Amino acid sequence: MFTHDLKPLVRRLLLAGAFSIGASACAFAQSASDTRIGVGTPVTKAELSKYFAIPPDGTGLPAGSGTPSEGRVVFMDNCAICHGDKLQGNPKPGFGGDRLIGGRGTLATNAPVKTVESYWPYATTLFDYVKRAMPFSAPGSLTDDQVYSVVAFILAQGHIIKPDATMNAKTLPKVQMPNRNGFVPDPRPELSLYH
Ligand code: HEC
Repeated sequence: MFTHDLKPLVRRLLLAGAFSIGASACAFAQSASDTRIGVGTPVTKAELSKYFAIPPDGTGLPAGSGTPSEGRVVFMDNCAICHGDKLQGNPKPGFGGDRLIGGRGTLATNAPVKTVESYWPYATTLFDYVKRAMPFSAPGSLTDDQVYSVVAFILAQGHIIKPDATMNAKTLPKVQMPNRNGFVPDPRPELSLYH
């Protein structure tokens, strides 16, 4: 415990410390963008391309394509261990992959089954998610063709697209997801992607 007299002094010292940390952080931010000092490098296009988000309308979907039969191979090699070879999920600790198909129409019941088939409103954002986040153990490791095909496989297994449909930047935004109209729009403008 501090004595009563020491308390204000300690508080002043702590404040001074906080300010000096703040000041040095500012100095660093300035120098990082200062070409005279020669630190920092311009961001390359390749680096920037790792930061993307594909919105519902499919803007920014890359070139490439894939079919469910190609996707079956990608899925069995990269996803089945955690999501099950029948897309039924794998609840075992350390795997934890969700079930991906089934459950249509159950969301408003007492036993909701949340899957890609029953819940996801857009096929485009499914592509975005898989490309960025899956496989959970090695995100970003799939090619765009592999992502198109594995998404096609999941959609075909959920009877959302035909088993021989090709998914690409044109066809994916047109896929009608079963729960597309099951969402209530959030009117808060700060949450809109399209200010
Ligand atoms: C190492 C285990 C693992 C592997 C491999 C894996 N996943 Fe996942 N997946 C997960 C986990 C865990 C989650 C839940 C993540 C979360 O909620 O943040 C998940 C979530 C998902 C979801 C979202 C499900 C939902 O209803 O919200 C999809 C879709 C998905 N994964 C697809 C894939 C695909 C496609 C592959 C193969 C390319 C793959 N996953 C590989 C573990 C895995």
